[in-house]
Amino acid sequence: MAIPKAILELEFNHGAIYGEEEAAALMEVLSCSAPSTGPKVKEFEEAFADYCATRYGLAVTSATTGLQLAMIAAGVGPGDEVITTPISWISTANAAAALGAKVVFADVDPQTLNLDPASVARKVTGRTRVILPVHLYGQCCDMDALNEIAQHGNITVIEDCAHAAGGEYKGRKAGSLGDIGVFSFHQQKNIATLGEGGLVTTSRKELYEKMLSFRSLCCRTYDPKGKYLPIDETLLPMGKRYWYLDFDDIGFNYRMTDAQAAVGLAQLRKLDAFNERRIEIASIYSRELSGVRGLSVPYISPDTKHVFHVYCVLVQPEFGMSKEDFMWELCMEKRIKVWSHYMPIHLTTAYRNLGNGPGDCPVAERLFEQYVSLPIHPRMTDEAIGYLIESVRGLV
Ligand SMILES: Cc1ncc(COP(=O)(O)O)c(C=O)c1O
Repeated sequence: MAIPKAILELEFNHGAIYGEEEAAALMEVLSCSAPSTGPKVKEFEEAFADYCATRYGLAVTSATTGLQLAMIAAGVGPGDEVITTPISWISTANAAAALGAKVVFADVDPQTLNLDPASVARKVTGRTRVILPVHLYGQCCDMDALNEIAQHGNITVIEDCAHAAGGEYKGRKAGSLGDIGVFSFHQQKNIATLGEGGLVTTSRKELYEKMLSFRSLCCRTYDPKGKYLPIDETLLPMGKRYWYLDFDDIGFNYRMTDAQAAVGLAQLRKLDAFNERRIEIASIYSRELSGVRGLSVPYISPDTKHVFHVYCVLVQPEFGMSKEDFMWELCMEKRIKVWSHYMPIHLTTAYRNLGNGPGDCPVAERLFEQYVSLPIHPRMTDEAIGYLIESVRGLV
C-alpha cells in the first residue's frame, strides 16, 4: 500500500524550506566567486541585527561556536561559574566547560520549562561570571528577573536564542534582551543557512570587537606606521600598501561564508511568515489536544511571543501510558517522528563525570519523564496536522 503523503511529512526530519529566492541569491554569490565573510555576510549581519534591534551582528559557523565566542567575550575561564539550564542541547553547557569554567545547573519553571529565576538566584556565588538562559522551544525566559539578578552580581547575560529567532519578550526581540544573543541556523531551526550557521547579536561595542577578533584567529593586519586594524579590513583590495599579520591571542576560524549569508538574507525575509505558520499549527494542536486527559499542552506566558521551534506536550501519569510507550506508539505504529528535547545535560555521561547527577535539578528530572516533542514545521499540511491529532487521540 502506498504511504499517504501526510504520513511521509511526519516521518521527515524538519528540514529547511528553500525556494527560488535562495536559489537566485546563491547564483549571485557564485558569480562573485563565493567568498568567505564578504559583502553578503556584512549585509546579513546588519539585517539580522536590525531585525533584533541590536547594534551589532556577527555571523558565525553555528550557535555552538557563537556561544564559545560569547563566553570568551564575557571573560569566562578556569575558576569561573556559569549558571544555565539542564534542559537544552549540550552545546549550551559545553561553551563554558570547554573554557575550564564550572557549569552550574539551576532548575526550571514547571510551566514553561525555562530557567527558574528563583533557582538561579540561589546558585549565584562570587565566582558567577555568566547567566546563560535558553529560550527553550522558542519561548523567551523571564528576562526581567534574570537581568536583575545579573545586575546585582556584575554578571554577563548571554541568551541562547538557538530556538527563538523572531521570538519576543515584552515586545522586544530575543537576542536584544541580555548582553549577547546567540542564534542557530542549523537545518532544523526556524531559518537555516545551508545546513549549519549561526549569528551573535550584541549592542556592546567591546563585546562585539572581542568576538570579531576571536572569530578570525585574533588576527590583525599590521600597518608599518603602527596602526592595527581588525582582520575584516584585509578584505580591502590588495595593492594599496603591503600589510603583514599579527595575532593578539589564541583565536579560531568561525567565519561564515557569503553563500550561507546570501541564503540567510532570503530566509530572514521569510522568518515572520514561517513563524506565523508555526504559531498557527501550535494553536491547532493545543485546541485539539488540550481536552485529552493526562496530556498537557504548552503554557504560553502572556509576556512572550512563542515561535514554536518545538511543540512539546507533557505525558502525565493520568494519560495511562508512559512517555516511552507514547513515543513508541506514535513512532513505530503511526510513523510520526516524535522526539524528546532533551535529556537533561547534568545527567549525560560527560556532565556526570564532572560531578553532576540525579537530584541536582528535581523539577527538570521529573519533567524529563513526561516531555515529548511533536513534529512542527511550516511545510506541514492540514492533512498531516489532522493525522497527527487523530493519532494522539487514538492512544487514549
Ligand atoms: C538550545 C540550543 N543551543 C545551541 C545549539 C547549537 O546550535 P548549532 O547546531 O547551530 O551549533 C542548539 C542546537 O540544536 C540548541 O538547540
